[in-house]
Amino acid sequence: MKLCMIGTGYVGLVSGTCFADIGNQVICVDKDLDKISKLKSGISPIYEPGLDELIKKNYSAKRLFFTSNIKQAINSSDIIFICVGTPTKKGSLKVDLSYVYKCCKEILKFTKKKKILVTKSTVPVGTGDEIEKIIKKKKKLFTVISNPEFLREGEAIRDFRYPDRIVIGSNEKKTFNTMKKLYSPLTNKGAKFFTTSRRGAELIKYASNAFLATKITFINELANLCEKSGVNIEDISLGMGSDNRIGGRFLRAGPAYGGSCFPKDTKGLVFAADKHKVNLSVVKSVIKSNFNRINLLTNRIHKILGSSLKNKKISFLGVTFKPNTDDMRDSTSLKMIPYLSKKGALINYYDPSGEKKEFRKIKNCFFKNNIKNNCYNADLVILLTEWDEFKTIDFKKVIKNKKFKVYDLRNLYNANEMKRNKIQYFSVGRPNIK
Ligand code: UDX
Ligand code: UDX
Repeated sequence: MKLCMIGTGYVGLVSGTCFADIGNQVICVDKDLDKISKLKSGISPIYEPGLDELIKKNYSAKRLFFTSNIKQAINSSDIIFICVGTPTKKGSLKVDLSYVYKCCKEILKFTKKKKILVTKSTVPVGTGDEIEKIIKKKKKLFTVISNPEFLREGEAIRDFRYPDRIVIGSNEKKTFNTMKKLYSPLTNKGAKFFTTSRRGAELIKYASNAFLATKITFINELANLCEKSGVNIEDISLGMGSDNRIGGRFLRAGPAYGGSCFPKDTKGLVFAADKHKVNLSVVKSVIKSNFNRINLLTNRIHKILGSSLKNKKISFLGVTFKPNTDDMRDSTSLKMIPYLSKKGALINYYDPSGEKKEFRKIKNCFFKNNIKNNCYNADLVILLTEWDEFKTIDFKKVIKNKKFKVYDLRNLYNANEMKRNKIQYFSVGRPNIK
């Protein structure tokens, strides 16, 4: 099939490349000329495992194309996927749909023959109806449907290829057949094809992300209780998660959840519900608890290091919101590092995805290019992101400061082993912080 992806961010680029890989002709469009020129020379503008190779393979097979010319891309496609960002409006809970609407206006301008117009971007319930209003002049040329993405950064290619379900929301039954055909290489391997109304699909996306965020927040709060009551949170996650009705995934306690989706989608859902005068009090509490979690964790850093942080050497292992991505959106590090710097701490950080522009102006905060340089002589090492290369660090060898401490925010290390090695070790939801 002939597809066009508008927006080559984390979602548009991965989906476009994977659609090409299952045999479609895909044109990816982006207004960012720099991104397009990188992509044309085979370089992925984002860090996503396996994506570079897949882009090269499909680009040279002439199934995958990149352009900044939206007119050309629209003209040569039958199905158009909108994959532009839908961030939260600054200072509110509202979703900023201006990129989506702007791109619909352009699509309207250039469309001459029948197309399926798909929102892959996460959009509030009822957005499809608003899009129909924008394109009403050429209404007969479009079927507007919703096909939300469920790709986790760092595992996005796998999630595309082996989805738990593919959700298609349309008010016109015959579009389901076209979409079923498009996704047949995945449904043939067992992916569930779930159809519903357009509004239904829009809401399923928000409901899924808000529920996952609730699971994480629930376990994070229970981790606080575990620390006070001498219980290990991992036992609780396992014991609870073994109940099929609950399920064991997304029950890992850690820092505040972050990323481009959970923070924005929980807020977006509350905003949409408020508009309909429905009080989603559970989701509201989740947002608040996740916000407060960063204060709670910085208070613990004070407890570990003593009340004054002045001239304390703190080394961060990982600063992205999760491993295997370069994405910094809503990472706990964005609040924690500036706070510690303000308190006079001397900060080093190392992240396998490289230096971060977000920290360039932070006082006494330096990027180090490997674990050893980063941790040397530290008073406290904070493990924030569970990248594989952090799993087997010989802390005594790399730190060389007899009194160092380790605060493991992902429970990556074995507490007993740390004890055996006489390392002052603190983690999350394990009975070790008084
Ligand atoms: C996506 C979705 O769109 C969002 O709704 C979902 O919840 C998360 O995933 P993401 O791929 O992470 O967002 O966004 P981003 O990485 O910001 O990429 C958006 C791309 O669209 C950028 O490359 C931007 O240049 C491009 N864009 C934006 C356009 O090409 N045209 C526009 O008008 C606006
Ligand atoms: C999420 C959705 O999972 C995915 O379906 C899509 O809608 C995009 O948004 P993503 O944000 O890329 O994916 O990563 P995810 O693995 O969901 O992690 C989100 C945040 O939750 C991260 O900060 C992660 O560290 C945290 N998390 C996740 C936990 O703290 N504990 C867990 O058990 C799982």
